Amino acid sequence: AAPAIDPAPPRRTRSMMPPTVRPRRLRTTPAMRRLVAETRVHPAELILPAFVREGISEPRAIGSMPGVLQHTLDSLRRAAADAAEAGVGGIMLFGVPAVRDAHGSAADDPEGILNLATRAVVSEAGDALVVQTDLCLDEFTDHGHCGVLDARGAVANDATLDRYRAMAVAQADAGSALLGLSGMMDGQVAAVREALDEAGHQDTAVLGYSAKYASAFYGPFREAVDSQLTGDRRSYQQDPANRREGLREAELDVAEGADIVMVKPAMSYLDVLADVAATSPVPVWAYQVSGEAAMIEAAAANGWIDRRRAIEESVVSIKRAGADAVLSYFAVELAGWIR
Ligand code: PBG
Repeated sequence: AAPAIDPAPPRRTRSMMPPTVRPRRLRTTPAMRRLVAETRVHPAELILPAFVREGISEPRAIGSMPGVLQHTLDSLRRAAADAAEAGVGGIMLFGVPAVRDAHGSAADDPEGILNLATRAVVSEAGDALVVQTDLCLDEFTDHGHCGVLDARGAVANDATLDRYRAMAVAQADAGSALLGLSGMMDGQVAAVREALDEAGHQDTAVLGYSAKYASAFYGPFREAVDSQLTGDRRSYQQDPANRREGLREAELDVAEGADIVMVKPAMSYLDVLADVAATSPVPVWAYQVSGEAAMIEAAAANGWIDRRRAIEESVVSIKRAGADAVLSYFAVELAGWIR
């Protein structure tokens, strides 16, 4: 006769012991979760990007960036004071000039809007937060590229470096403490460092936007600065496909004398950020760019995500990946929640 089939499951399964290792123990209460949190965001590690526009008498809204303004000099002063009050660590200034030309002449004019704004913000809040300036030509050129063009219309690296040197000196003269080199020209950190030192600005720091990718997420920023760009920046900003290259760019900037390096955008490049943070001898920052903010705002406005939780989660994730500080349009609001 065929052997009887035992319908009972194997003994092993029936007698399995309850787990003794229970990670959920450290998630039981808000107090416990707070105690064991590995990453914290402090207001001092947040930097507010801010726009100032020449020739307007009232601040203007930016359609794709809810809550972000093109400031007048006066409203920018107030925004800087508010940021300082919130405990934010720094402000990064971007200028929108009234007149543009092929060489971005307004960029190194001491009376150019960015340099005027820098003086205003330094006198208003320079003791309470680190006043920083974007060092790039795209806001100032009539063609919208980050550098000057050669006869064939290509962005000319070394001629652009001469413009960056002049901008650096003008920005440091205006009182900027930290220059954000966002143009992605080869050799820009070394060129600017040399120009600053020759002009007696040894104490002005240089932030290399080292691993800056040619990103669709800069879309709203282009509206914020009334960008004149047609085409794209793929001949100087990095290909989103490249991870190893991000580390190489950061290493080059450190070798050229960058005091801080940055990865940008942040949320789609957390792997690059983690790579750079693992080996960088200098602080590593990340920029939660306009399009990243816009995605959160748009989804939240539709009721699809919880706005505050999404902002908090995004910034803590950028820090967890390795950022020492984060540029974010949410900096002041987030600092308020943290407090
Ligand atoms: C260049 C610069 C850009 C941003 C910061 N610096 C624009 C670009 O590279 O096209 C984008 C920041 C953002 O999207 O929030 N001056």
